[in-house]
Amino acid sequence: MAILLNRYQLAVPILLLTAKCFSSNIMSTVTVSDTSLVEKAKNLAPPLSSGKHKGQAGRIGVFGGSIEFTGAPYFSSISALRVGADLSYVFTIKDAAFVIKSYSPELMVLPFLDDQEAIEKISPWIDRLHVALLGPGLGRLKSTQGIFEKIIDVCRSKNIPLVIDADGLFFIADNPNIIKDYPAPVILTPNKMEFQRLIGDKQNVTKEEQAIQFLEKVGSNVTLFCKDATDEIITMTKNVKISGGGSGRRCGGQGDMLGGAMSTFLAWALDKKWEPAVACYAASKLTRDCNAKSFAKYGRSMLVTDMIHELPEVFRENFELKDEQFN
Ligand SMILES: *[C@@H]1O[C@H](CO)[C@@H](O)[C@H](O)[C@H]1NC(C)=O
Ligand SMILES: *[C@@H]1O[C@H](CO)[C@@H](O)[C@H](O)[C@H]1NC(C)=O
Repeated sequence: MAILLNRYQLAVPILLLTAKCFSSNIMSTVTVSDTSLVEKAKNLAPPLSSGKHKGQAGRIGVFGGSIEFTGAPYFSSISALRVGADLSYVFTIKDAAFVIKSYSPELMVLPFLDDQEAIEKISPWIDRLHVALLGPGLGRLKSTQGIFEKIIDVCRSKNIPLVIDADGLFFIADNPNIIKDYPAPVILTPNKMEFQRLIGDKQNVTKEEQAIQFLEKVGSNVTLFCKDATDEIITMTKNVKISGGGSGRRCGGQGDMLGGAMSTFLAWALDKKWEPAVACYAASKLTRDCNAKSFAKYGRSMLVTDMIHELPEVFRENFELKDEQFN
């Protein structure tokens, strides 16, 4: 009996050890060609402190949504919140606003995008934003392009950092001048198709060379985050590749999740006077790990909602400050 008990006692720690190795195996599969970003990303999150007031950890504005797409801005803004922004606003059209509000009471949903006085109504809110994310589910109507460009002009006048994704990139491809010499950091997050439309697909020139030509046109405050099996961060002075993690499962909404997470990370990076590439890496790592973790549970049935459920744990493992958590 005593021997049995001993064996049992031995077995438990061994099992725990195995489980731990297994989970850290999953977590360690993301690799990045610039390890300084990993160190910075670990120290990116501001300490949780009772001395701070609401809003200091980030106020993110998501500009998106349309009759067709209400999920995209929701996934972005809830991810921005889950990463740790204090407040997340969604600026959308009237008919999408009630739908998005009904998904979540956490978000402030402002139905001004198709208002007659859109800019007058939106402008005062822009003052409060640390980062504006433009594009998720925005649609490609000509009238939307008009308001999109006016919002960028307002953001420009107030030096608001931008993340531009999805249909926002469609409009930028039409008129890249709108972000030329932007006075604050801008991250563009094209996937393969969006890259081709925005920057080109010349066969005899490398992706990086084409990207640099584009950056020379729009100015050095723009960072490209090119989404693919290997993500690539391209700036005038840097090229970083991120691979691993993730899975073969490509459910809709992952780009929206990534953009929302990146916006909060960007607010934090700029607060520390760090380069936007840190936010790009952190968002890529987070999304890749959430994908891998939820794929392990749900396989082919995995949805982006499942990935967002993994976010708190992936965040804690990679981005939570270990000491001075509450002071
Ligand atoms: C780029 O952004 C910085 C702030 O991050 C600003 O000081 C600088 O003037 C901007 N560059 C241009 C060309 O506007
Ligand atoms: C690439 O090919 C195009 C024609 O397809 C040509 O005009 C251009 O000069 C080539 N560029 C280089 C760098 O070879």
